[in-house]
Order: sequence, then C-alpha cells, then structure tokens
Amino acid sequence: MLVFKTVRELQQFLSTVASNSIGFVPTMGALHQGHLSLIEKSQQQNKLTVCSVFVNPTQFNNKEDLLNYPRNVLADIHLLENLDCDNEEKRIVLFLPSENEIYPNKIEKSYDFGNLSLVMEAQHRPRHFDGVAMVIERFFDIIQPTKAYFGEKDFQQLAVVRNLVKQLNLSVQIIGCPIVREANNLAMSSRNERLTSDQKEQAAHIYKFLQIAKQQAKTLTVEQVKNNFVNSIKNIPALQLEYLEIANGNTLTSIENWEDTTYCVAFVAVFVGNVRLIDNVTLFNFRKSILGSI
Ligand code: PAJ
Repeated sequence: MLVFKTVRELQQFLSTVASNSIGFVPTMGALHQGHLSLIEKSQQQNKLTVCSVFVNPTQFNNKEDLLNYPRNVLADIHLLENLDCDNEEKRIVLFLPSENEIYPNKIEKSYDFGNLSLVMEAQHRPRHFDGVAMVIERFFDIIQPTKAYFGEKDFQQLAVVRNLVKQLNLSVQIIGCPIVREANNLAMSSRNERLTSDQKEQAAHIYKFLQIAKQQAKTLTVEQVKNNFVNSIKNIPALQLEYLEIANGNTLTSIENWEDTTYCVAFVAVFVGNVRLIDNVTLFNFRKSILGSI
C-alpha cells in the first residue's frame, strides 16, 4: 500500500489518477471495524480511496484525552493491507501527515453551524467542531475528493460536515454510514481500547437502555422516556451520564413532544471511568419508513 506523509507527495500521486472517482475516509487511527466499514463502502463506490490517519489536536478540548488517544499506525497499516488495497479497481492509499503539513500557518478558525454549534457535543466540548471543521476543510482542499464517508456514530459531526460543505459550496458528496457495534452492541470506538473487559460489559447497557427508550417511545411521553433512561443509567455504578437528548434528527433541536418531529433520534454521552463514549439510536423516522415501504 502506498503511504504518503506530505501534501506534495500525495497531490503529485492524485494528479495521476481519475479525479472523478476519489473516495475519502478521514480517521484518527486505531482503526476498527467501524472505520473499515467506511473504507469498504468507499472501495465499492470509487476507484481510489484515500484514508487519512491524523490525530487532530485542534478538536481536542481536553489535553489528557489527546495524550491518551490510542495510536497504532503499524496495526492500522496491517488492517488496510488486508482490504485488497492494491487492486486497481479499489485501491487504498494512506495519508499520514504531520501536524505541520496540516496546519503550516497555525491559524485558528471559527465557524457558525447555527444550532449544531450550540447543542450536545458542542456544548460539552468547546471548540470541538471548529477543530473538526478546520481539519476537514483542509483535507478536502488537499484531496478534492468526489465522495467522503462519515459514520453515524458521530451523528452531530456528520451534520456539521454536511453543513460545512453547504456553506463552502463544495462539490464533494457526503455519505453517512451506519454504526458498527461490538458483539455486545457497544458502538465500536477507538476509545473502547481504554476500557477493561468489565467496563466494556457495563458499557453495553448504553445501547440496551437506548433500545428500551425506542420501545417506550411508542407508549410513554418524551419526559417519561428520558426519566427512565436517566434512572436506568444511575443504577449502573460504572456509568455516569453526561447528557441524554431526544432531538429532531435533521436540526438536532430537542423535542418535548413526539409530534414535534417525524425523525427522532436519542443521543447520549456517557463516562465509563474516565473514558467518554457517545452513542445514538433512531427512535423513529416516519418519512423514511413510508418511503422505504413503497
Ligand atoms: P474517528 O473517531 O477516528 O472516526 C473516523 C470516522 O469513523 C468517523 O466518520 C466516525 O464517525 C467513523 N466511525 C467511528 N466509529 C464508528 C462505528 N462504530 N461505526 C461507524 N462509523 C464509525 O471522527 C473522527 O475520527 C474525527 O473527528 C475526524 C472526522 C477524522 C476529523 O479529525
């Protein structure tokens, strides 16, 4: 597999390939099946997939989290090489830039994503999405991808990136991909590497309670569903809830009544020890189910 460490080398290579079939999968490494599902999707849809591994310092509001973020480039390369990476119809190349390559002039940017800049992750991780947007804008500028792939695991990030593309009037198509879960239904995450096996077992309650919320959404009020979720988490000593939001899946505004939206998603952030996990489950999406059944 070709690995590029500088913008110049990568762009030189990209100038030799068809520019209308470049898929891009940005990651921060410690790759797992969730990341690989995005890469495989890109391989199905593009002749060339550029995967980046860059632990982006500007999106970490917590220094300790940045320092503790798992890094294992050799294992990442190994996983990518198992994906038929040199097949000319679905080639993968890895972009492994240094901080200087991505931020040569160290300018901090701020963005306005409306409500998306105010709620949930934005509220609890100040400037996080400015950092995400900065790095994604830079990557899009370097790579000029046809399509770019993002996981629904980071649902708000996906919404922010769609908004960024709209604001900047870019031609890249953003593809959202479903959440890949462990056998116990814990959403896969690089941060799961920092959990003990007991913590992983306890963390599986997050999805279990989200599924219960989905069932209860059929009969109880929004407030009752929320209270039940909060109380269930309180009963698991290993878990500390940071937030639970039940919101419109398009605008991410909280809802008070089920009638407030036809597309409703429950979002959570939960600490397991000092590891912060996020997850989400669609409670209902009426438009989609109606269209899906035609
Ligand atoms: P990272 O956490 O490494 O995730 C890279 C991509 O993989 C994101 O689009 C994320 O949503 C997706 N992903 C992670 N776990 C997943 C899972 N279990 N199922 C499906 N997709 C999953 O997200 C980032 O990095 C960074 O913010 C980045 C976009 C690279 C910008 O720095």
